[in-house]
Amino acid sequence: MRETATALIDRYGDSDDPGSTRVSPIPKKGQPTDPDVVRFLNFALHDNTYGLSARLMDAASDRIVLSQFTILHNPRQEGEEPQLPEQSWGTDPRNWHRDVRPDHDGPLSEILTDTGANGPGYVQWNIALYEDSILEVVPGSHRRLQSEAEMSQVESGGTQTALADGLRVELSPGDGVVYNNVFLHRGTQYTPDITRRTIHIGYRMFDRMLPHQNGTPLPRHVREQYADGAPQRCVIDRFDVLYGEEFDLIERIFRAVIKRDGEALGGGLDQLHPNEVGRLSCLIVLSKLAQKVHGMHEQGIDSVEPACGYWSMSEQRLYDLATRLSRTDVERLWAGFGALDRMIRSGQEGHTRGFLGPPTGYFYEQLPSTITAEQVVEAMLE
Ligand SMILES: [Fe+2]
Repeated sequence: MRETATALIDRYGDSDDPGSTRVSPIPKKGQPTDPDVVRFLNFALHDNTYGLSARLMDAASDRIVLSQFTILHNPRQEGEEPQLPEQSWGTDPRNWHRDVRPDHDGPLSEILTDTGANGPGYVQWNIALYEDSILEVVPGSHRRLQSEAEMSQVESGGTQTALADGLRVELSPGDGVVYNNVFLHRGTQYTPDITRRTIHIGYRMFDRMLPHQNGTPLPRHVREQYADGAPQRCVIDRFDVLYGEEFDLIERIFRAVIKRDGEALGGGLDQLHPNEVGRLSCLIVLSKLAQKVHGMHEQGIDSVEPACGYWSMSEQRLYDLATRLSRTDVERLWAGFGALDRMIRSGQEGHTRGFLGPPTGYFYEQLPSTITAEQVVEAMLE
């Protein structure tokens, strides 16, 4: 796997950026089979990774998707010192953070309520091929908001120094750690002097919830890496089917919002997020998808291009959904979800340390407890 990882970095990495520290090796459509990609895919579809992830999320193994497919590596050159958070471009992951962006994912309090009641919807792995002690974590912080001590340290500038409850994850070659990336964590040193080849993969589940990390970087054409009838090819095809089913349901929910049909909306939500506890997080994630659909129509639906040159399965489904809605539908959709969007804004532009992303006007940690899913649905249907 070390040789495979190095070959993939050489072939798919950003050769123009000597500071680059990660690569997602996705071959282009029609490209012949790349044995190194196949080896990495086989690794990520093995029972020890894929199967165990399903069991950790208490999901059937045919109801999860590979949704992170990356190799972390050392930079070729020493980079700049990490900047503090609150930059207009976002937050350097060498600052303490949770993998949560309030403008993309919603406030932490609702994500915690959802995963507290329904379990994690996404799990992520680091599997080291060489010694790797870059990741530092605060165990248990995926179940709670920031403590007062953590908040006062990070707010007073200590976003790049050890936290009292922090733990350095020391991985020997072949060791892996699997975690909920909502916990407080940081990368420590990214240096060219220590060889790093760490497999960084993640999986999401379907049926019980709509995790904020719901997309995949895998395009449909990655199936071409396998021969017809290969079991891995069937698994990849099933990923696309899962997204197809989920986006059909999301379309029904969107059409219910467009028609202001409370009964149909309730029925759709019962299916997408059966437990009423944690449903607000699901509604917020839906609002982000509705916002993207609205953005596509604002831009002109025919001129929308995939960001990295190909559509991933999840992006493709979202785009296809957007093409099936008229401009009038989309304005009406966003008028509904816009009511939710206003409720999750604090009214103040700013940044709370411990989160990814640039400053925004959204609530970061705690949504006012007076805001409930019922209230939000009522506002959306007005
Ligand atoms: Fe992170």
